[in-house]
Amino acid sequence: MRENDPLAAFWMPFTANRAYKAHPRQLAAAKDMHYWDSAGNRILDGTSGLWCSNAGHCRAPIVEAIAKTAATMDFGPTFQLSHPLAFELASRVAELMPEGLDRIFFTNSGSESVDTALKIALAVQRSRGQSTRTRLIGRERGYHGTGFGGISVGGIVNNRRWWQGLPGVDHLPHTHDLARNAFSKGFPQHGAELADDLERLVALHGAETIAAVIVEPMAGSTGVLIPPVGYLQRLRDICTKHGIILIFDEVITAYGRVGGATASGTWGVTPDIITMAKGLTNAAVPMGAVAVSRTIHDDVVNNAADGIELFHGYTYSGHPLASAAGIATLDLYAQEGLFDKADELGAYWADAAHSLRGKPHIIDIRTIGLVAGIELEPRPGAPTKRATELFHACFDNGLLVRATGDIIALSPPLILDKSHIDEMFGKIGELLEGID
Ligand SMILES: Cc1ncc(COP(=O)(O)O)c(C=O)c1O
Repeated sequence: MRENDPLAAFWMPFTANRAYKAHPRQLAAAKDMHYWDSAGNRILDGTSGLWCSNAGHCRAPIVEAIAKTAATMDFGPTFQLSHPLAFELASRVAELMPEGLDRIFFTNSGSESVDTALKIALAVQRSRGQSTRTRLIGRERGYHGTGFGGISVGGIVNNRRWWQGLPGVDHLPHTHDLARNAFSKGFPQHGAELADDLERLVALHGAETIAAVIVEPMAGSTGVLIPPVGYLQRLRDICTKHGIILIFDEVITAYGRVGGATASGTWGVTPDIITMAKGLTNAAVPMGAVAVSRTIHDDVVNNAADGIELFHGYTYSGHPLASAAGIATLDLYAQEGLFDKADELGAYWADAAHSLRGKPHIIDIRTIGLVAGIELEPRPGAPTKRATELFHACFDNGLLVRATGDIIALSPPLILDKSHIDEMFGKIGELLEGID
């Protein structure tokens, strides 16, 4: 039976459905740096959609590649058969990864990439005769998507409290420390020692029970938590010392967000596995991927009996449309030098963001690459309300930002110029004056 309310059927993800449906704001079109809402208002995209469209929206080469592939071969399974585009994209992704991480498993989302990475980590420990290594370590305030693996290693209470996660999971402390690091530009100075908590977990559980550690090199979803100087290297060293697989979840940071193809490459700390999604196809077709070290790949594949080596995969792994979109996207990133944009504009971006210091309610501003987190003091008794109001005010005034908790996160398409930066921070500054 058809309902009268056209908004009733879609149960929206990570949305206050009742509030949204009472005051819906809908996107209707997108091009380059802008969206248009259903009333035709132009909205500057300060978030690349959702940390996604790093090359800007509806870019012609990507649109054309998808259309051409849809007309040539809409779908082809990659179980036992596959097709050239998937192999080509895997090779292209491998070229962009840090040295040695050149085996690529395709998924359809960040959540699937995370669960795939965790399963590969468990599989390789087993292949190496280390089958007591079943424990997974995440981090408080980590976001690794919404699969059961991802919520288990993730560190966001609302994503965990209703669901029994995987057994045998533990968490490192988060690195967010306003008392010591507020208003940092780039890497915060204090907190590398928080990585040493992994030694405490090793002492508590025994290294021989721990398979893998997963962290976002920069936590995006919980509000742009930038790693302290030296922290990631320390984690790397402790993992190496104890035979623990290190996974960097780069679903947000890969493809130019902090410069270079990956944060790992740019920051010079190489994990054993990297997860990605979003920017891989500019989000024009859903796709994720997992880059795995050749050693891990070979240990799983070469130690397996004849037949399928890893009992894992998705019907749409390496989907032709996504593969075509991915290849066109990587071409565009290279042709337009978009991975250099964080270097070129990073200082201007940081200065513009930090110029908001002193505006009402701001208790921290943090920036790295082309990312900014602006943290607001929570309204007493009503946490998250201020940022939500600012999010709505921005949208109604032609700017898309992301509100997470009481933090406003910005991560614009990498095709932006200085005028867009001025517009973003100018509007946020003005609108903050009207928020109580
Ligand atoms: C670091 C990280 N991992 C995983 C995910 C989940 O990705 P998806 O929503 O595509 O499943 C996200 C999404 O924002 C993310 O930021």
